[in-house]
Amino acid sequence: MTDFSTDRAFLSEHIAIGKELLYLTGEECRGVGLTRDEILILAHDALYAHGTGDYEMPAKIGVHPFDDVLYHAMPAYVPSKAAVGAKWIACYPRNPSEFGIPQTTGLLMLNDVLSGCPIAVMDSAWLTAMRTPAVTVLAAEKLHPEARSFGMFGCGVQGREHVRFVTKTLKNLESIFIYDVDEEAMDALIAQVSPDVPVSITKCEDSRDLVESCDVMSSATVILKEPLAAVPDDWITPGQTILSNDLNTFWDPRTSLRADRYIVDSRASHALFADMGYFPEGLPEIDCETGAIIAGREPGRTSAEEIIVCSNIGMAVCDMVLGRAILDRALEKNIGTRLPL
Ligand SMILES: NC(=O)c1ccc[n+]([C@@H]2O[C@H](COP(=O)([O-])OP(=O)(O)OC[C@H]3O[C@@H](n4cnc5c(N)ncnc54)[C@H](O)[C@@H]3O)[C@@H](O)[C@H]2O)c1
Repeated sequence: MTDFSTDRAFLSEHIAIGKELLYLTGEECRGVGLTRDEILILAHDALYAHGTGDYEMPAKIGVHPFDDVLYHAMPAYVPSKAAVGAKWIACYPRNPSEFGIPQTTGLLMLNDVLSGCPIAVMDSAWLTAMRTPAVTVLAAEKLHPEARSFGMFGCGVQGREHVRFVTKTLKNLESIFIYDVDEEAMDALIAQVSPDVPVSITKCEDSRDLVESCDVMSSATVILKEPLAAVPDDWITPGQTILSNDLNTFWDPRTSLRADRYIVDSRASHALFADMGYFPEGLPEIDCETGAIIAGREPGRTSAEEIIVCSNIGMAVCDMVLGRAILDRALEKNIGTRLPL
């Protein structure tokens, strides 16, 4: 059994377990000072734990009040990090245009492993905006390490952070291309992110322009049951790598079905989504999980010509590991509001 005595001593020193919890706003989460480099290490640790079986994480279940929205319940336990809890997250694609608020919102709760008592509740928007691109770029490092060009479909919260993270692992990148149906989102990305990125960022005229310019591409747009197939399969050429964050919505399902390797972060979650009707053309045969590649149990890219699709729909193990790091840093720095249980 894992020894949690060091963790318990740390927690007991900073919080009255069973009597109170720490509440952290989004600003406070951001304010604890975790850097993107630290977040990459944490995401790596979470993927490694997943790839070596050091975790418990059921497929994420959800509810869907409208056709284009989803809520996901995401519990996980990562023993090596004393990280246990759950995230409850909503994606409402019309939020930005209808209400002027983000598409992705939610809360994350953490518990004390030894007693089960809640020890923290935090806004999960920043955490989700950070851990998702961290997973994408760690996968990209293994699946296309020599890439010279990266393309991002969707220039919202996720798109902006993907562009900020990508040069940290793809060291040979010479250019980044972006495309969004919303011209203002592309302009905002370039204005906000360019100063932080050592590579030029170019706005594409259309989707095809981006696909023809890039070795590695990622997407963070919308998640719908019916695929948009915004990139027709015949545009994809040998050697390209696709890293999707929006399940099978954005890409032509035929590409995933014919790819040399179809890799997913969680077999269980992808199987559940298929059961719910998200893969009307059928769930492609899964080669392996992303964590297994990060842990070195499965190979990264094995030939220059292979087409690789890697679908990372988001794993609670990453949320819990990052959430726990945010909590520890907040407790050390006395950030946040203590609420009685
Ligand atoms: N895999 C994960 O772990 C994970 C985590 C968080 C969010 N997501 C998903 O990522 C997506 C984006 O989330 P976000 O918080 O960045 O949302 P956002 O609303 O901030 O950004 C989405 C952007 O995609 C653009 N877009 C929509 N359809 C498009 C299309 N067909 N072509 C090009 N651009 C298009 C929108 O104009 C918008 O700028 C959502 O589907 C969300 O569910 C996935």
